[in-house]
Amino acid sequence: MSRDQNFFKTYSLVIGVFVAIAIAILVLATKMSDLTQGVNAQDAAEYRVAVADRIRPVGQVYLPGEELESSAPTVETAAEPEPVATAMSGPQVYNSACLACHAAGIGGAPILGDAAQWVERIAQGADTLKQHALQGYTGSTGYMPPKGGRLDLSDAEIEAAVEYMVGEAT
Ligand code: HEC
Repeated sequence: MSRDQNFFKTYSLVIGVFVAIAIAILVLATKMSDLTQGVNAQDAAEYRVAVADRIRPVGQVYLPGEELESSAPTVETAAEPEPVATAMSGPQVYNSACLACHAAGIGGAPILGDAAQWVERIAQGADTLKQHALQGYTGSTGYMPPKGGRLDLSDAEIEAAVEYMVGEAT
């Protein structure tokens, strides 16, 4: 019997010590959190702005006429080298864009170098010929598509080709 009481006393003591330690840790933790929580939580205005900036979408849509947001960071891009002017010469344009029809007279196209087929056309004047080549032309012999279908070529390049073709026909 006395052994049971003895055990019970010791047991209660141990439990009591544990409870005391637990309470001490609880109090300590509360005190420490009071000291640190407020300090490290970042809530300053600049901080919020910085976060908003970091999680901002990669792309933004600007409709024509809209001002660019000043807050949007300007992306520094290395200045692209100016594309070197690589305008093709008249013969080059002819060979790449006009020859398909004008070499053999496909679809009624006046043949390069065939003076008879060009006399009346040249008589219209260089401006008219250039305009027909640029904007397309349907005449008595067929259909000349605008720029010979090569809308990627510049007006100057097409005009150079017309000059070349006219030069070959005289
Ligand atoms: C798909 C065929 C085709 C291609 C490609 C083509 N032409 Fe023509 N072109 C024609 C035809 C067909 C005519 C004749 C139209 C007519 O008078 O009925 C013509 C006529 C012309 C004329 C005479 C227009 C006039 O007023 O009489 C010029 C100039 C001309 N082409 C320039 C060019 C040049 C420059 C190119 C290349 C950039 C070119 N063409 C490419 C079919 C073509």
